[in-house]
Amino acid sequence: MEGSGPPFRAIRPSKGKGGVLTCASQTARLTTTLVLLSLLLVSCGVGSIRCSSMTTIHGNSTDMMSLLDFKRAIANDSRQALRSWHVGLPLCRWKGVVCSDPKHPDLVIELNLMNLSLSGTISPSLGNLTFLRILDLSSNGFTGQIPPFNRLQRLDYLNLRHNSLQGIIPDTLTNCSNLQWLVLYYNLLIGELPRGIGRLSNLVWLELGGNNLTEEIPPSLTNISHLEYISLADNKLAGTIPDELGKLPNLSVLALDSNRLSGGIPEALYKYNQSSLQILQLGSNMLGKTLPSNFGDTLQNLEVLILYENNFEGHIPAALGNISGLDWLDLSFNNFVGQVPSSFGNLGLLHHLDLQQNNLSGFIPGELGGLQHLTNLYLSDNNLEGGVP
Ligand SMILES: *[C@@H]1O[C@H](CO)[C@@H](O)[C@H](O)[C@H]1NC(C)=O
Ligand SMILES: *[C@@H]1O[C@H](CO)[C@@H](O)[C@H](O)[C@H]1NC(C)=O
Ligand SMILES: *[C@@H]1O[C@H](CO)[C@@H](O)[C@H](O)[C@H]1NC(C)=O
Ligand SMILES: *[C@@H]1O[C@H](CO)[C@@H](O)[C@H](O)[C@H]1NC(C)=O
Ligand SMILES: *[C@@H]1O[C@H](CO)[C@@H](O)[C@H](O)[C@H]1NC(C)=O
Ligand SMILES: *[C@@H]1O[C@H](CO)[C@@H](O)[C@H](O)[C@H]1NC(C)=O
Ligand SMILES: *[C@@H]1O[C@H](CO)[C@@H](O)[C@H](O)[C@H]1NC(C)=O
Ligand SMILES: *[C@@H]1O[C@H](CO)[C@@H](O)[C@H](O)[C@H]1NC(C)=O
Ligand SMILES: *[C@@H]1O[C@H](CO)[C@@H](O)[C@H](O)[C@H]1NC(C)=O
Repeated sequence: MEGSGPPFRAIRPSKGKGGVLTCASQTARLTTTLVLLSLLLVSCGVGSIRCSSMTTIHGNSTDMMSLLDFKRAIANDSRQALRSWHVGLPLCRWKGVVCSDPKHPDLVIELNLMNLSLSGTISPSLGNLTFLRILDLSSNGFTGQIPPFNRLQRLDYLNLRHNSLQGIIPDTLTNCSNLQWLVLYYNLLIGELPRGIGRLSNLVWLELGGNNLTEEIPPSLTNISHLEYISLADNKLAGTIPDELGKLPNLSVLALDSNRLSGGIPEALYKYNQSSLQILQLGSNMLGKTLPSNFGDTLQNLEVLILYENNFEGHIPAALGNISGLDWLDLSFNNFVGQVPSSFGNLGLLHHLDLQQNNLSGFIPGELGGLQHLTNLYLSDNNLEGGVP
C-alpha cells in the first residue's frame, strides 16, 4: 500500500508496548557497560590501551556464538555496520544488541538491525537466542528463507519487512506464542499463511502484505481476539473473507486490497457494531454483487473506505452518508448504477471522493457543494448530468 495512494495513517509498528521494556534494558545496558568498564580498568590497569585479557573477560556465551554465526552468513556489510561485533567487545556493546540485565550480561533480549544495507541469509542460529523479545531486521537485503524460530518463546516483536526473503512462512513460527507483532511486509514469500496461525493468540499486529501468498485466509485467524491491525494486501489470496474477521472486537485496520478474494462483503461488517474499525481497504478483488442498503450504519468510526475494482453492482447505499468521520471514500471502477446519494452531503470531513468508472446517472447532488474539505473529486466515466456544484 505504501506509495499506492490511500492515506494509510494507522500507527506504524513500533516497539510500542516494548517502550517500557526498551527503556529498562537501555538502563541495563548502560549499567552493564559501566560494570565492564570498571572491570577492564581493574584488570588491565589504567592506561593500558591494548588489553589482551579482553576476550577472556567476555567469554563466548551461546548467544555470542549464535550472533557470530549470524554475522558469518552476512555476505555484504558495505557500511561495516557490524564492525563492533567481535569477541574483544562485550556482547551488549555490539551494535543493535541489547542484553537483559547486569547479572546476565550475555543474554540477548533485543536485536535491532533495521536499514543497515545488510545482505545475505538469516542464519538459523538466531533461533538459538532463546531470551530474544525483539528482532528487527527490516529494510535490509536479506535473502533465503525465514529460519525456524520455534524456540523463541519470548519473542513478541518480529519485523523482517522490506527484504527479499523467499519460500514459505514456516508453520513453526506459530510456536512463538508470545508474538504480538508479526511484520513480513514486502518480501518474496509464497505459499499459504500458516494453518496454525490461530495459535498466536497474543497477536495484535499482523502485516504480511506485498508478498505472493496464495490459498485462503485461514479460518483460525479469526480466533485471535486481540488483533487490531491486519494487512494482507498485495498478495494472491483467494476464497472469501471469513465472516468472523468482522467480529474481532478491537480491529482497527483491515487491509485486504489487491488479492483475488470473492464472495461479497462479510455480513458481520454490516450486522454488528464496528466501533473500533477505522480503515477498511478491500479494493481490487472480485468481491462483487451488491452492497446491502444499510452498509455504513455499523461503521460509525470509519475514516477510510476503499472498495474500488470489485465488480460491485446495484445502488450505492445511502447509509454510507451516515459515516460522519469519513475522510476517504473510493468506489471507483465498479458497476454501480443509479444516483450519487445526496446523503453524501453529510460527510463533512470527506476529503477524497472517487466514483469514476461506474454507471452512475442523474444529476450530481448539490449537497456535494457544501463539503468544505473535499479536495479530490473524481466522477468521470459515468452518465452524470449537470456540473460539479
Ligand atoms: C569458547 O568456545 C570454544 C569452543 O568454541 C571453547 O573451546 C572455549 O573454551 C570457549 N572459551 C570460553 C572462555 O568459554
Ligand atoms: C543452535 O542450536 C542447535 C540445536 O538446537 C545446535 O545444533 C546449534 O549448534 C546451535 N547453534 C549455535 C550457534 O549455538
Ligand atoms: C535508511 O538509511 C538511509 C541512509 O543510510 C536513509 O537515507 C533512509 O531514510 C533510511 N530509511 C529508513 C526507512 O529509515
Ligand atoms: C554490497 O552492497 C552495496 C549496497 O548495499 C552495493 O553497492 C555493493 O555493490 C555490494 N557489494 C557486493 C560485492 O555485492
Ligand atoms: C514449541 O514450544 C514448546 C514450548 O512451549 C516446545 O516444547 C515445543 O517443542 C515447540 N515445538 C516446536 C515444533 O518447536
Ligand atoms: C509475484 O509473482 C509474480 C509472478 O507470478 C512476479 O512477477 C512478482 O514479482 C512476484 N511478487 C512478489 C512480491 O514476489
Ligand atoms: C478457535 O479456538 C477454539 C477454542 O480455543 C477451537 O475449538 C477452534 O477450533 C478454533 N477455531 C479455529 C478455526 O481454529
Ligand atoms: C480491546 O481493547 C480494550 C481497550 O484497550 C482492552 O481492554 C481489551 O482487553 C481488548 N480486547 C481484546 C480482546 O484484546
Ligand atoms: C458500539 O460499541 C461502542 C463500544 O462498545 C459503544 O460505545 C457504542 O455505543 C456502540 N454503538 C452502537 C450503535 O451500538
